[in-house]
Amino acid sequence: TYVVTENCIRCKFTDCVEVCPVDCFYAGENFLVINPDECIDCGVCEPECPAEAIFPDSDNRAAPWIEINAKYSTQWPNMTRKIDAMPDAEEWKDKPGKAAMLSE
Ligand code: SF4
Ligand code: F3S
Repeated sequence: TYVVTENCIRCKFTDCVEVCPVDCFYAGENFLVINPDECIDCGVCEPECPAEAIFPDSDNRAAPWIEINAKYSTQWPNMTRKIDAMPDAEEWKDKPGKAAMLSE
């Protein structure tokens, strides 16, 4: 499965949802997650994210986020169409230390 990680927080560009063939993205207030049971590992979302937030679960950068994606993808609503990025997305893009800002 592919995994959404910290770089998505406070950005939510949502280019990823537009390309996913199985619509397996789920949206929280300031972060998106992928449902690991639905993702077919096609990889098309990874290069689409302007914040480079998406990695395969085999990547070390995905490890701390695997459980978070699994958990919230069963709680948050499904998202299938691109919407506007968050207002300060460009400002927060590439900023480190956003993990604690995840809205649950
Ligand atoms: Fe969707 Fe493919 Fe990305 Fe999985 S890897 S979330 S199936 S676009
Ligand atoms: Fe987040 Fe990137 Fe998608 S910022 S909403 S993972 S395009």
